Amino acid sequence: MPKLKITGGSTLSGTIEISGAKNSAVALVPAALLSKSKSKIYKVPKIRDIEYLLKILEVLNCTYKIENDEIEINTTNLKNAPIPEELSEQMRASYYFMGTLLARFKHVEISFPGGCNIGARPIDLHIKGFEALGASVKIIKNKYIITAEKLIGTKIYLDFASVGATINIMLAASGAEGQTIIENAAREPEIVNVASFLISMGCKITGAGTSRIIIEGTSDLDNGITEVFPDRIEAATYVILGSLIGENLKIQGLITEHINAVLIKLKDVGVNFKKENNSIIVSKCLNPLPTNITTQVYPGFPTDAQQPFTVLLTQANGTSIITETIYESRYISAHLLNEMGAKTESNGNILTINGNTKLYGKELYVPDLRGGAALLLAGLIANGTTILDNISLILRGYEDVVEKLTKVGAKIEIIE
Ligand code: UD1
Repeated sequence: MPKLKITGGSTLSGTIEISGAKNSAVALVPAALLSKSKSKIYKVPKIRDIEYLLKILEVLNCTYKIENDEIEINTTNLKNAPIPEELSEQMRASYYFMGTLLARFKHVEISFPGGCNIGARPIDLHIKGFEALGASVKIIKNKYIITAEKLIGTKIYLDFASVGATINIMLAASGAEGQTIIENAAREPEIVNVASFLISMGCKITGAGTSRIIIEGTSDLDNGITEVFPDRIEAATYVILGSLIGENLKIQGLITEHINAVLIKLKDVGVNFKKENNSIIVSKCLNPLPTNITTQVYPGFPTDAQQPFTVLLTQANGTSIITETIYESRYISAHLLNEMGAKTESNGNILTINGNTKLYGKELYVPDLRGGAALLLAGLIANGTTILDNISLILRGYEDVVEKLTKVGAKIEIIE
């Protein structure tokens, strides 16, 4: 299995271009099935999750053409087929086929979705939403079977503003009769991205990006076109990296407002950065200060940026506290940072980081996607060499990570 070899101690300068967002793209590809003949999506990242979603499209008899970062998906011969476990378990986002196939065929058979092991991650809110629209949901062995005679628009209140449930219900509701209102909807940029795609196909959606989304269902959607938003988590990860070892490192092609919460916390730590249109220029923070962070739904501090940010806090002069409110097991990577010399301690959903610690290269096993990003950052600031195993998890979320980092001066390579 390939591993990542990282030699710490470089200074990074130059430009890192931000890719299309994984969490948008993995919803947009399944959403393309709502279009009767074809759709086009620009700026799709070349990551493993997309490869598997395209394999699912093949199972559903769709064809696609890839040119650079553009994908054209042809759904003319779309056929409903069960989505097998070996594909659905590869990622969490396979659950978006529930919403789209329900809208198109009123029948879905899909094995359980996979995804990083960062907590219980139930999908009860998705299921409740489908049921409210008139579907019945059965679990047989490890497979969801969802059927409806017809879907009827209704009012759905989400007990938690879940990103996945909001998108999945929006997808299903686009094929329902009449109006669906989602109350307490998630407001993440990914939802706006998917809504804009559905609108381009002819669906009437208002309120995406607010906590009340109104969808007018129709069976007449076609010719979807959209561009994947820049990846806000990739951008946040590289801005944090710049604050550790950057020298005028430019992170380019992001929407800076999408990472406002992270930027505000970087300011608290004392990081100097400059915003320019769609880029951020950042240099190493010489005397980082401790801070406290609580992860929240958007526009709050993203849980996905918590793990990379922890690496910066290991260098701060004092004690920082992170309170994780979205997932219960997201501190495995912090414990691995301890093996590199960090001093962190978790108690339930609270992580205490005693900073100003020197980190040393280590051989470690990547526990989850963003945890892997944290270990990568730690390796880049550590004394000596770090070897990361199980790196396919990192490659799931960071397009061309080795190429992008090498270009700005990092010593990082994939070894067999
Ligand atoms: C998405 C992102 C993930 C990110 C998360 C929060 C994708 C593919 N993944 O995950 O990277 O960390 O948003 O920003 O887009 N929950 C329930 N029941 C449900 C649904 C969710 O209890 O039916 C809980 C989850 O267990 C979790 C919380 O709600 O504790 C957040 O989940 P959600 O916003 O749905 O995140 P995901 O869509 O899984």
